[in-house]
Amino acid sequence: MSDSPQSIETLDQLAAQALAELAGISDSQTLERWHTTYLGRKGKVTLAVRRVGELPKEERPAFGQHANRVKQQLEAAYEERTQFIKAQEMERSLAEGAVDVTLPGHPVLRGRLHPSIRTLRRILQIWADMGFQVYRSRDVETDEYNFQLLNFPPHHPARDMQDTFYTTQSDVLLRTHTSPGQIHAMRAYCPQPIRVVLPGMCYRYEQITARSEIQFHQVEGLAVGYHIRFTDLKGTLTDFAQRMFGAGRKTRFRASYFPFTEPSAEMDVECILCHGRGCRLCKYTGWLEILGCGMVHPVVLQNGGYDPTIYSGYAFGMGVERIAMLCYGIEDIRYFWGNDLRFLEQF
Ligand code: PHE
Repeated sequence: MSDSPQSIETLDQLAAQALAELAGISDSQTLERWHTTYLGRKGKVTLAVRRVGELPKEERPAFGQHANRVKQQLEAAYEERTQFIKAQEMERSLAEGAVDVTLPGHPVLRGRLHPSIRTLRRILQIWADMGFQVYRSRDVETDEYNFQLLNFPPHHPARDMQDTFYTTQSDVLLRTHTSPGQIHAMRAYCPQPIRVVLPGMCYRYEQITARSEIQFHQVEGLAVGYHIRFTDLKGTLTDFAQRMFGAGRKTRFRASYFPFTEPSAEMDVECILCHGRGCRLCKYTGWLEILGCGMVHPVVLQNGGYDPTIYSGYAFGMGVERIAMLCYGIEDIRYFWGNDLRFLEQF
């Protein structure tokens, strides 16, 4: 083209060629290349227009005006094509990435509460409804609080190394039950009346079997006041059992022994599976043991700061996993800390 003499005709030919090419372009990359080829700084049209100097002087104004119109026309066509291609590309990407909203979605995995915690919360809710406040106390205890202040005789079997996790510091241990919390609560509240529940993890240095674990939750209960009697203990715990296991559920109390209560008892509920007829769960007795309890021993009241000639109280302690096993029909306590999702996902 640069050989042919410069003229309006050759410019028009060039423009016609450019427009024809433009009409066939359908992607933005080729479109950009087209713009550079014709309208860029070294583009064919740009260079052709620059050759205006080759024309006789009198033809130059007319050529210049015409050249401007051609450039404007090409720019406008380019602009139009750009919009068209953009719209097309948008449509294409929408079609490719289209979402079929009728397809089933991906299930969202959600965390859930551990069966121990679910049971613990249910138990605490019932006690809260009955007017008991939650009182938290520590997992790491001293021998004094875990045993001595609870009236454990010096050579009581429960103090044996077999049962207790001691730390490297003598006298510091992991609590074997939530009962040391009784002393903490009494010393914190004395001389006011008390009605608290103390939830928490307990630890015992034991052989792990289907029935016993080295860690488990307990919920301790403690009531201290002026005229608290054994009948209050029986009535309150029976009410709890009916709220926990269903109205009309029978309970029974068997005499037992704990150093820190006198008298002491264990409470059984009517078997939740067979309703007392006898089955594998209750070992054909019709009853399930769920807690230990008793009237707070005078020595323990005194250790808590309460005068046993004025005050009396009751206490109880229940194993949370044991109750969860009864409620959910779990046959092996090792499932609780086994971290097997097949177990955990059932709750
Ligand atoms: N602490 C006792 C245990 O771990 C349970 C208990 C608590 C008994 C309070 C009586 C009173 O077995």
